[in-house]
Amino acid sequence: MARRRIIAGNWKMNKTPAEAVELCNTLKDLVKNDNVDVVYCVPAIDIVPVVEAVKGTNVKVGAENFYIEDKGAFTGEISAPMLKEAGVEYIIIGHSERRDIFGENDILINAKVKKAFASGLKPILCCGESLALRKAGTYKEWIARQIKWDLDGVTADQVKNLVIAYEPIWAIGTGETATSDQAEEVCKMIREIIGQMYDAATADAVRIQYGGSMNAGNAAELLSKDNIDGGLIGGASLKPDFGQIVNA
Ligand code: 13P
Repeated sequence: MARRRIIAGNWKMNKTPAEAVELCNTLKDLVKNDNVDVVYCVPAIDIVPVVEAVKGTNVKVGAENFYIEDKGAFTGEISAPMLKEAGVEYIIIGHSERRDIFGENDILINAKVKKAFASGLKPILCCGESLALRKAGTYKEWIARQIKWDLDGVTADQVKNLVIAYEPIWAIGTGETATSDQAEEVCKMIREIIGQMYDAATADAVRIQYGGSMNAGNAAELLSKDNIDGGLIGGASLKPDFGQIVNA
């Protein structure tokens, strides 16, 4: 099956609202491509102006985080209904920065995946190993465990609409990209795990991205691999280079 490519920017904690609108305007003509899903995952405060700035273009808007309750006494949090009403379509869940810096574990991440689907948001579920696990040679077991925990109780029909991002932590923001063979090895394994957990049709439908120092120079090579359906891009999503990745 031909899966539709999805190139998503993860802006992380960058860009004030005014800067966000400026970046949208800079990228507007560069990211035009009707054959690719293009997503900007932006800081919560940038969502409203970015939704406005990309109106009438092919760009969809994503959020970087949310909490699993709809409303209530959860100081500092933002809910799925809030994101939906603001025009958000995608939601990043389980990014290594949320796991490592903010202590999110697989139980919360699993609850977030289920809540996102129940709320009509499309999750981009991140997984990936540390340098220590890569060196120890146990990275495959680690990632398999993440996928199984994070998708516990998630249905096949939901997984068909899921995006999984394989992001080796040692490649994030370091300039050290996984080779296309290293990335393909893990993305292929993730698809096989989905096949074992669900069925062949679900494994065929789920879209798997690579993330970690992806840039205009290495995107085409990474995206040429059978099991890499897109990219989740940090640093390079804040620059005109992002247009070259979309069109790689
Ligand atoms: P970089 O592209 O900056 O390495 O970040 C990758 C990432 O974490 C995307 O979610």
